[in-house]
Amino acid sequence: MQINISFFCCVQGPDPSLAYHPELQSKEGKAKSDFRNYEGGDLFERVFNTYKLMHKHQTLDFVKKKHMAWSGCTHSRMTVMETIECLDQLVDESDPDVDFPNSFHAFQTAEGIRREHPDKDWFQLVGLIHDIGKIMALWGEPQWAVVGDTYPVGCQFQNSIVFRDSTFVDNPDEKNTTLNTECGIYERHCGLDKVLMSWGHDEYLYQVMKFNKCPIPEEGLYMIRFHSFYPWHTHANYMHLCNDKDLNMLPWVKEFNKFDLYTKSCDLPDVEQLKPYYQSLIDKYCPGVLQW
Ligand SMILES: *[C@@H]1O[C@H](CO)[C@@H](O)[C@H](O)[C@H]1NC(C)=O
Ligand SMILES: [Fe+2]
Ligand SMILES: [Fe+2]
Repeated sequence: MQINISFFCCVQGPDPSLAYHPELQSKEGKAKSDFRNYEGGDLFERVFNTYKLMHKHQTLDFVKKKHMAWSGCTHSRMTVMETIECLDQLVDESDPDVDFPNSFHAFQTAEGIRREHPDKDWFQLVGLIHDIGKIMALWGEPQWAVVGDTYPVGCQFQNSIVFRDSTFVDNPDEKNTTLNTECGIYERHCGLDKVLMSWGHDEYLYQVMKFNKCPIPEEGLYMIRFHSFYPWHTHANYMHLCNDKDLNMLPWVKEFNKFDLYTKSCDLPDVEQLKPYYQSLIDKYCPGVLQW
């Protein structure tokens, strides 16, 4: 899990103030269509291999076991800022757009939100912390059980999942006739709260926030829990499992996604200078030592 300082830099260097306004992009900027390229690019091999393992091993049974292992929050006691600092040691192997530590992405996302939503401190806080559940990777979970897009298990894997055609052949659930229907083990419109998602950092952090009774608004909790659910928020799959509450929350998850994705840039923020402001948000919404 070591990283080499000389690998921090990535190929394109868009102006971060334009990065999440694709319509305003200058010719130097990275275009909206250049993000989330799963067909090629410098990092293709690493990204593909992460998803291949995820799609082979994440079964309904696997997810149930991970809930039992992690949702009790018995692993550690740490402050939120300590977990962000830990992510200095983590490069997300599923991400085709970022080849620098996740801690910078935390501040880039938060600052993007702060610029467009200066009055919503809880939203900025969510930008800062949304990925800190990736700490599981530093505590022994393989990246394919931590990072990457998420999707429901226990029902048919839908077509918008990345590498859908080439990576599920060895997943036993793919051949299980009980699970391999549109609704599988779920009732139509049961609500996403009742759906088991592939295991990763979204669900883990949601569980940690609930366990520690952090007073983050419901919109923020949805962003935390479903920000990697691209088949839903970007491709409108799995609508048959949603209830009215999910549909009301969807615009917030989509608003969050703009910043999560389009603030990714090699222009790394001055983290030390930003820390006091964000510490004040942590003190308001998830103060002190949390159980993980
Ligand atoms: C299909 O999945 C269900 C639910 O996990 C399980 O109970 C059942 O044993 C599986 N069937 C086969 C043939 O593996
Ligand atoms: Fe994430
Ligand atoms: Fe992220």
